[in-house]
Amino acid sequence: MSRMVPVNTPLLAGNEKKYLLECIETGWISSEGEFIKKFEQAFSSYVDRKYGVAVSNGSAALDIVAQALKLGKGDEVIMPTFTIISPAVSVIRTGAVPVLVDSDPDTWNMDVSQIEAKITARTKAILVVHIYGLPVDMDPILDLCKKYNLKLIEDAAEMHGQTYKGKKCGSFGDISIFSFYPNKHITTGEGGMIVTNDEQLKERCELLRNLAFDPKGRRFVHEEIGWNYRMTNMQAAIGLAQLENITDHIEKKHAIGSLYNERLKNLKGFKLPVASTSYAENIYWVYAMVADTEEKCRTMVKALSEHRIGTRPFFWCMHEQPVFLKMGLFRDQKFPHSEKMARNGFYLPSGLGLTTDDIEYVSERVMNCSTL
Ligand SMILES: Cc1ncc(COP(=O)(O)O)c(C=O)c1O
Repeated sequence: MSRMVPVNTPLLAGNEKKYLLECIETGWISSEGEFIKKFEQAFSSYVDRKYGVAVSNGSAALDIVAQALKLGKGDEVIMPTFTIISPAVSVIRTGAVPVLVDSDPDTWNMDVSQIEAKITARTKAILVVHIYGLPVDMDPILDLCKKYNLKLIEDAAEMHGQTYKGKKCGSFGDISIFSFYPNKHITTGEGGMIVTNDEQLKERCELLRNLAFDPKGRRFVHEEIGWNYRMTNMQAAIGLAQLENITDHIEKKHAIGSLYNERLKNLKGFKLPVASTSYAENIYWVYAMVADTEEKCRTMVKALSEHRIGTRPFFWCMHEQPVFLKMGLFRDQKFPHSEKMARNGFYLPSGLGLTTDDIEYVSERVMNCSTL
């Protein structure tokens, strides 16, 4: 039986166990506890923000952000069609409507040249989603937000440590979010964080994360509806240990991406990730590729699976989501670059636990399977 290479394996090689034991030995296992505050402070300062609000996952962070910004019926939010569903859901749940833009076929991020034409009197915010390892081209977006007085929401779920023109991703939005799912550069198992420099927004997020318990009023009397989207002290303990090693994790991911690039450079019929642009180096959250045809993608994924090599398909576009079409959203809209990426794209094993030997093995199989 050939070896198995899963699509992701996390790396938990630092103080995770020690800090977790501390939670168990002291009994601080809920969302109360020192690791929460330490992790919020350390992570927000790492991404150059004043405040961090730790939550149960990145999708929860987006829900809270959309509510905290008071999005609602009649509002429009411009965002990419090519993304995970969470940003669109967070907007739709408030009653606001996502207005979609296509992707740049090289960077796989939203095509910023399409945004201005979509701005209307109802536009309240631009929701940027950095995809797979390269950041969105932020300067034109910052200009538009200023020109039209729009809020900027930044989904940096995949972008720990990434920079745009030397400035940390997550530091651009009026409010920004991260995910700490185990395939991220740092993980808490499940988890997320909202970061901002705006104290009032931070306080609203804290309120909404905690069932909207009024910190000043009588306990169990509520003026509004929130969620229980709290992170536990145990998750924060893992997060803090991971953060201590983030530089190593970023270097390791970079090495994984660079080795794949080298080994796959002669691969025909597939577009590999762009290693760098004028504003950023790829951090290879995942090592992704787009086949010339859907058939080629299917054949490769199937062949790799027969070799017990894990892959994941690309995100599926928002304007082609059955759930949104059933709601009457995005009917007859077309975004050709995103549609091609969604159908023809997938990613290879990219986790921090990969060995050089794993990458050599996977690359060799990819090269062999490309001639099928
Ligand atoms: C861009 C983006 N936004 C949001 C999320 C949601 O994060 P979570 O899985 O922690 O809910 C993800 C998850 O990978 C993501 O990639």
